[in-house]
Amino acid sequence: CGIVGYVGGQSALDVVIAGLKRLEYRGYDSAGVAVLSDGGLAAAKKAGKLVNLEKELVDRPLPSGFTGIGHTRWATHGGPTDINAHPHLDNAGRVAVVHNGIIENFAALRAELAERGHDLVSETDTEVVAHLLAENFSSCGDLPEAMRQVCRRLEGAFTLVAVHADEPDVVVGARRNSPLVVGVGDGESFLASDVAAFIAHTRSALELGQDQVVELRRDGVTVTDFDGAPAEVRAYHVDWDASAAEKGGYDYFMLKEIAEQPKAVADTLLGRIDAEGSLTLDEVRIPASVLREADKVVIVACGTAFHAGMIAKYAIEHWTRIPCEVELASEFRYRDPILDQRTLVIAISQSGETMDTLMALRHAREQGARVLAICNTNGSTIPRESDAVLYTHAGPEVAVASTKAFLTQLVACYLVALYLGQVRGTKWGDEIRAVVRDLAKISGEVDRVLETMEPVRALARSLADKNTVLFLGRHVGYPVALEGALKLKELAYMHAEGFAAGELKHGPIALIEEDLPVVVVVPSPRGRSVLHDKIVSNIQEIRARGARTIVIAEEGDETVVPYADHLIRIPVTPTLLQPMVATVPLQVFACELATARGNEVDQPRNLAKSVTVE
Ligand code: G6P
Repeated sequence: CGIVGYVGGQSALDVVIAGLKRLEYRGYDSAGVAVLSDGGLAAAKKAGKLVNLEKELVDRPLPSGFTGIGHTRWATHGGPTDINAHPHLDNAGRVAVVHNGIIENFAALRAELAERGHDLVSETDTEVVAHLLAENFSSCGDLPEAMRQVCRRLEGAFTLVAVHADEPDVVVGARRNSPLVVGVGDGESFLASDVAAFIAHTRSALELGQDQVVELRRDGVTVTDFDGAPAEVRAYHVDWDASAAEKGGYDYFMLKEIAEQPKAVADTLLGRIDAEGSLTLDEVRIPASVLREADKVVIVACGTAFHAGMIAKYAIEHWTRIPCEVELASEFRYRDPILDQRTLVIAISQSGETMDTLMALRHAREQGARVLAICNTNGSTIPRESDAVLYTHAGPEVAVASTKAFLTQLVACYLVALYLGQVRGTKWGDEIRAVVRDLAKISGEVDRVLETMEPVRALARSLADKNTVLFLGRHVGYPVALEGALKLKELAYMHAEGFAAGELKHGPIALIEEDLPVVVVVPSPRGRSVLHDKIVSNIQEIRARGARTIVIAEEGDETVVPYADHLIRIPVTPTLLQPMVATVPLQVFACELATARGNEVDQPRNLAKSVTVE
């Protein structure tokens, strides 16, 4: 969910709505606002995207005021209806609360409130907070104190922002787990899930820590812990400007972000490889001795980041010979994994907020493992709680389906793998030297792929009425196939599955029928040529059974030509780097198919970009 709070000299409603627009990527099931005005509190909320709320505000305008809060929701407790939308109010309509996270003991609190005569109208866990706040405020008369008292009673993960009609110049926020940042302006203050919400007004920000309550006033902020003791916060300057989060002439953020990939890749490499091909990763503050002694690497991540992790495993094991496991973060801690001081855990996350990944890394640290984060969001929770971080420099990624962040995650994974090799004294053979050289050139290769995408778009449009698309790959092409299928599910709402091509004969081949589109990622005929030949046989097997083959193969690979109904060429790269170029056509393919099917590209149904609940 996305949260905004404002107090200052501008119209709170305008500031809050503009902020919510920037946060809509975090959830768009419903939206709502509350404004304090003339001693009263006025609220509006609406199911569906933010535009529905905006229409509602035109039909039924709210009075203007200088203090307000807003929310854009990704539903957890209770479906996306008007009633379940935030803010939630107490029965007297004096308190309004917005919330991100899950309050685990809400059922008990709700029963307790009902017993005391409160009338709760929604199915959400959030509503209990509004009622509790109202009760506590009436006994202590101080909103920050009331918030602290309530927070001490809540279990689970939550970020809360609230206003009370009796304190017209105050917004109160509380943070546990889910993100919340403060924007410090001149005579105005902001609270938001992400700096994007207030970057148009101020670039000076404060990062709230775990279990902190903030009191926001025009002329400053006060931060305490849940017991009221003053708390330390980190101030920082936001170094990207508002235009980085604008569409810049593209119809969708996703198209813009696909196009930005060469730059994102180059920026992520910048200053990290020198002319001799050796790596400088100063940020990796884990002592070299620890990296040398590590006997296992475990990668945890979700969604697209998990696919980057799968590719990293091939690189790490091949270049460093350290055993490497990759696991879905949501599964990791629940199976009692074997970890100790000699385990290096790598947590990959674009947002740095994904709760599953955060919980996995906390579990790893509790077991004594060192955690290195690969992350795109400066100052977010996952890097803050890790031993070290290697930032990807993709810039803000707004479209829900991840593209440029994925490519930069791959770059970061290659860098970490090579760095591990460097620190551990892996013999730098010709192969690795060539990889480092080619890595430096890879941004240009991504650019070349982007220039040849028109036939891929035409192909996508021609498949708009299909129900199923399958993806096959081997070796690093297997995670690429999974990523291609994930993109299609997310964007085109089509049944799409990725398989390891070698598994075809063990089951999936039964799915092949006349004219079924099957995308095959073909490894280079050089190097591991056995794999190449095997996959060419797989293409023949599916084609013989009627599949329409869409083959992604290296320039100059002529062996595939007779079996490809559609051929997509990618530049020659070292085997392990091929995902950098092979994924790009699959992103374009999914984006175009979604457009052809009339789907919302940047905000696919039911999804959210950062999922801050487990
Ligand atoms: C969500 C998004 C995915 C993303 C995943 C992990 O599910 O919809 O696109 O890959 O979270 O996000 P992270 O921010 O941790 O990389």
